[in-house]
Amino acid sequence: MNDYINIPTTEPARQQYFMDRCHEYIEEIISTKGKAPTFYVSTFGCQMNARDSEKLTGILEKIGYTEASAEDKADFVIYNTCTVRENANQKLYGHLGSLKKKKESSDMMIGICGCMMQQPDIVEHIKESFGFVDLVFGTFNFYKLAELLYMRLSGEKKQVIEVLAAPEENVEHLPEHKKYSFKSGVNIMYGCNNFCTYCIVPYVRGRERSRAPEDIIAEVKCLASEGFVEIMLLGQNVNSYGVNFLEESEIIKANPSYSFPELLEDICKIEGIKRVRFMTSHPKDLSDKLIDVIARNPKVARHIHLPVQSGSTEVLCKMNRRYTKDDYLALVERIRAKLPDVSLTTDIMVGFPGETEEDFQDTMDVVRRAGYDQVFTFIYSMRTGTPAATWEQLPEDVVNERFSRLLELVRETSAKVTARFEGETKEVLVECVNDHMAGYVTGRMDNNILVHFEGGEDLIGQFVNVHLDKACGFYYMGTIKK
Ligand code: 5AD
Ligand code: SF4
Repeated sequence: MNDYINIPTTEPARQQYFMDRCHEYIEEIISTKGKAPTFYVSTFGCQMNARDSEKLTGILEKIGYTEASAEDKADFVIYNTCTVRENANQKLYGHLGSLKKKKESSDMMIGICGCMMQQPDIVEHIKESFGFVDLVFGTFNFYKLAELLYMRLSGEKKQVIEVLAAPEENVEHLPEHKKYSFKSGVNIMYGCNNFCTYCIVPYVRGRERSRAPEDIIAEVKCLASEGFVEIMLLGQNVNSYGVNFLEESEIIKANPSYSFPELLEDICKIEGIKRVRFMTSHPKDLSDKLIDVIARNPKVARHIHLPVQSGSTEVLCKMNRRYTKDDYLALVERIRAKLPDVSLTTDIMVGFPGETEEDFQDTMDVVRRAGYDQVFTFIYSMRTGTPAATWEQLPEDVVNERFSRLLELVRETSAKVTARFEGETKEVLVECVNDHMAGYVTGRMDNNILVHFEGGEDLIGQFVNVHLDKACGFYYMGTIKK
């Protein structure tokens, strides 16, 4: 409050300044209570949110908070929310309800950020029904956590609410705390321009913005020098990388047609990086050029997540997906011709407005023909503000019954597909100690399938060869080969 004149006006210096100011408050707490206050960041939703949470965690640790083991033990809880389906919203309200008592009887603080907060009616609801929440911010200004927290800690405001309607700038070089020490997500673009008629993402994450390739390459080189071996390139639709750039780029000036295949190839060239993944691919934009790049670069994981959403051409058209059932199946064939051992996964939605039994049968047909290793299944959820929310909705019992039939088919087909490697030996990157079986660890093959096998903590972050003894649905039990 006292030295506004000295507050930097440019980023990231401004946030560094507020981290230091917040740190002074934390020092005071430490001197009166004898220990640092704790935080817990609860993340809902997709990889984008997981990545944002690593940045929130980094800022809180820089300020002086330490991480609590659970939400109800923390002095400061942040919910990084998702709003892609209504049940994600309900989950947040449930959590807030259960923290209300603790909040009233202690000096704990609650912050909410992420996609849900980008909707003005939801922010209104939070103000009315959950007035005890301390901080509310959105997807475009989450990097300002320290600045917003400072307003609350300094007593300038009791409830701080700041949500921007559109991105202002992309702030880099703030602290972050990586969940793993050997693999990391790297944003290559933000937002989405596709406006699928059911989807809220373009409204809450804004228009598509690609990062300059030199920034992405520099970030991955830095990760490699720190010992990271696996990189996941992240975007809502990585196949349209390079259509709209955020900043000037010498690489683009030299090669204006530089796009995702070129970026993927450049990332593969970085020494130290052993595996490269990417997520998510839109079928309308996945080019043959990309398939060729994957085929000639063994570092690229043999896994493509290719959301089909529906198998019916008519429904796909109403969804504004811009491909037909035949286009999709032909793409799957082209991928399999060049990447025979690829693992395909998908997202499928049941109960989109107007979906008939015949449309649903087309979806079932695609599941039988595409040979997915895993299918993420969803019941269509009406999102206010999207075109499909204004269309006539299907009866719940019809949708639930279709959903059960889809689940049954998926269970059958995926288990068979996943089992195709039984008896082979594959390279596995060990990720963690197994929570359920003492003396076991869990790793991932390059096709994204999980393997559990006997081993110790010392293997975490290492590539090991594992014999796949037995396929058990979505995963394998294996034995390490010495
Ligand atoms: N209802 C149900 N599922 C949805 N998804 C996106 N929007 C909705 C919605 N309104 C699913 C899509 C997408 C995945 C991330 O979430 O299948 O691929
Ligand atoms: Fe949503 Fe479609 Fe964009 Fe995916 S591509 S985020 S489903 S609008």
